[in-house]
Amino acid sequence: MTASTMGVGKVSRRDFLKLMAAAGTIMTFTPFVDWGKFLPNIRSSEAQKAKVEMPDGSQANINSFPVNHSESIIYPKTDDPVLNKEAFRTWQLIRLPKELGGDRNDVSAFRMYSMVCLHLWCLWKYFPRRPDPEDPSKMIDGNGQCPCHGSMYDVLTGKAYQGPAALQGPPSNVLPRLDLEIDSGGYLWILTPQWKADGNGIVGYGRFLTERS
Ligand code: FES
Repeated sequence: MTASTMGVGKVSRRDFLKLMAAAGTIMTFTPFVDWGKFLPNIRSSEAQKAKVEMPDGSQANINSFPVNHSESIIYPKTDDPVLNKEAFRTWQLIRLPKELGGDRNDVSAFRMYSMVCLHLWCLWKYFPRRPDPEDPSKMIDGNGQCPCHGSMYDVLTGKAYQGPAALQGPPSNVLPRLDLEIDSGGYLWILTPQWKADGNGIVGYGRFLTERS
């Protein structure tokens, strides 16, 4: 690689980061623009009812999935391993802590949110309910935390309550969520989503909270 080529690469990367920062600012102050139309979203034709496939290839089952636990799930999954690594196909399946209903024996014990942070698209992670490191006699509720700029997401609704994503207007302050179903054998299924802000949401853009949220 020549020095000039390397220089172009550096400038491009810096310009890209500047662009992303500007996009975040714009999304914060102009939530009325329909940014969802411009995002690299999954085609509706790919998204169908599907098994909740765990990283080990097995289908998630309520009888074996621990309470207060999460797994990363690829959806919609394709035959192409490169496509399957796209952030926009990465979801976090969470079985709620017992205190929030995670011990129920029905689908209400689960949530499945897009892992793409609504601020600048880093991947957030679920931290289970756990003892407070500063006072272990107290418990901290489980939540989603983004490592990039500290946005935090409520596990019950997917709504950002802290950090830059919380400052964005609706629908860009609530994570897209997939609807689930459990069959008679306890196996979890993803229902065909509606990729729109007033449906299951648009990955990287957000979702309007509704009654069932
Ligand atoms: S990308 Fe900025 S808080 Fe997540």
